[in-house]
Amino acid sequence: MKQNLLLIGYRGTGKSTVGKLLADRLGFPFVDADVLLEERAGATIRAIFAEEGEAGFRKRESAILREICQTDQQVIATGGGVILSEANRELIKKSGFVVWLSAEPDILAKRLNADPTTQERRPKLAQGGLDEIREVLERRIPLYRECADCEISATVSPSLLADTILSAWTAIISTSSNTPG
Ligand code: S3P
Repeated sequence: MKQNLLLIGYRGTGKSTVGKLLADRLGFPFVDADVLLEERAGATIRAIFAEEGEAGFRKRESAILREICQTDQQVIATGGGVILSEANRELIKKSGFVVWLSAEPDILAKRLNADPTTQERRPKLAQGGLDEIREVLERRIPLYRECADCEISATVSPSLLADTILSAWTAIISTSSNTPG
């Protein structure tokens, strides 16, 4: 069984921030799938969207996920749309403990507006703004739910969030090690 800790969830839920904290606490490497994708491509996500469209970006995203999931014992922050592909969802589910970070659209809108990386890393997926978040999130919620071992509200501080995630993971590990057979 793979022992990665994977973070999924919409843009702005703080996957990268809490991912780094979790990696420190676990002594695991932290892998940010979007950062690795940009390094491999030698281009920003915005430039990839502009040149290859969203379809080109999604192909690259799936290839990076396959590469990352070959390794164990890492904390992995995924891009918000990685769950759109069924093959990605299957790979995520079998690659470790999957935590879905969730938050309400208005909170996400505020966070995304305040994040200086939004321009380069988060091209528009629809009309932009709060309506885009509502619309895209509604379509994605069942897919996040399908992949997740647990859903955790991302509205607390990163440190508290990391504590909550580690407790959830520990509880699952101890339950499965107590299961006979
Ligand atoms: C995307 C989310 C982004 C990035 C790309 C597409 C999405 O990642 O992968 O802009 O479709 O939601 P973050 O979730 O890290 O912002």
